[in-house]
Amino acid sequence: MPSQPESGLHIAGTGVYLPSRIVTNQDLEKLVDTTDEWILTRTGIKERRISSEQETSTFMGVAASKQALAQAQLSASDLDLILVATVTPDSFFPSAACRISAELGATGCPAFDLQAACSGFVYGLILAEQFLRSGAAKNILLVGSERLSSVVDWRDRNTCVLFGDGAGAVVLRSQTGCRGLLAFDWGADGSSSDLLHLHNPQARGRATQPPAPLAPDCIVMAGKEIFKQAVHAMADSSKRTLKKAGVQLEDVKCVISHQANIRIIDALVDKLKFPRERCFVNVHKYGNMSAACIPVALHEAGPEMKLQKGDKVLLVAFGGGLTWASALIEW
Ligand code: UT7
Repeated sequence: MPSQPESGLHIAGTGVYLPSRIVTNQDLEKLVDTTDEWILTRTGIKERRISSEQETSTFMGVAASKQALAQAQLSASDLDLILVATVTPDSFFPSAACRISAELGATGCPAFDLQAACSGFVYGLILAEQFLRSGAAKNILLVGSERLSSVVDWRDRNTCVLFGDGAGAVVLRSQTGCRGLLAFDWGADGSSSDLLHLHNPQARGRATQPPAPLAPDCIVMAGKEIFKQAVHAMADSSKRTLKKAGVQLEDVKCVISHQANIRIIDALVDKLKFPRERCFVNVHKYGNMSAACIPVALHEAGPEMKLQKGDKVLLVAFGGGLTWASALIEW
C-alpha cells in the first residue's frame, strides 16, 4: 500500500495589531536623561508603539487574530487550539488565550498561554507543529501579544527606551504535502535568569511570610551581558537547526530574528556570514515587543522580502529565562 503523504505546518494567515500612538526618541528625551542619537546608535530604534488604556494584550491579540483568521479564510469555530505567547497577560487567569478565545467566540477550543519571554512565539510554533504533525489538530491560532509599556520603569533609561507594545498572530494549518517546519532547536538556561527578569511581586506571599522588601515589578536587565549571550545563543541555535535540516545557509532566503537591537542583529548575521540585506529588520519602528516581534515581522516580511512559496526562512529568538529557539520553515 502506498504510504500516506506527510502533513506539515502551513502558515495560512497572518495578522498584526500595533497601537496608533507612536512614541519617538525625541519624546523620551523629555522623560529620561537620554538622546535620540544615543538610542539610535546603540539600538537602531527610532520609535515604538505604546498602547492606550483600552489596548491591552487581549485587545491587541484579538485584533491580530481576526486579521489572521480572515486571511486564512477560517472562522473561530474551525480552530482546534489557541496558543498565546505573552509575558504581559491581562491576568494570570483567565489566561490571555482564554480571554482571546472568548472574544473570538471559539467556545470549547482548548486555549492556554505559554511563557518563554522573547522566545515565546518560536516555542509556540514548535509546539503547534507537534499537534499538526500528529493529527491532533488541524487549525491552530498562535498569537504573540505584549504590552511591555506596563512593565517597564519609565524612570529607568537603561530599559524604557528599548521596548514597545504590539501583537502578531498566525493561523497554522496542517496541509498534506507541505513540509512547513523543516527543523528546529530550542533550549533554556535558568541558571543565568537574573540577567533579565520581571518578578511577580505577589509571589513573595502575603499572610504566611514575614514582610520582605518589595520585589521590583519592572523589567531588569544586565544589557551588556544579555547582548553577548543573545548573539552567541542565536548563532549557535541557528547552526544546529540548519544542520538538522541538512540545509546550507546560502539556501536560506531570509532570516527573521528577534528584534531587540540592530547591533545584535548585525552581530548575528556577521557570525553566521549571512548577507545583511536578506535579514528582515523592523526594530527601528517598533523596538523590542518580546513575543510579538517575530509574528509581526513574519507578517511584514512576506511582501517586503518578496517571499515566494517554497522559500526557506529561518526564525531565531532569544529572551528572558534565559531561553532561545530557532526554526527553519518553508514559506
Ligand atoms: O529581548 C531580550 C533581549 N534583550 C536584549 O537583547 C537587549 C540586549 N542589550 C542591549 O541591547 C544593549 O546592551 C543596551 C542597548 C541595553 C545598552 O547598550 P550598551 O552599548 O551595552 O550600553 P551600556 O549598557 O554599556 O551603557 C553605556 C553607557 C552607560 O553610561 P556609563 O556607565 O558608560 O557612563 C549607561 O549608563 O550608556 C548609558 N546609557 C544611556 N545613555 C543615554 C544607558 N542607557 C542610556 C540611555 N541614554 N537610554
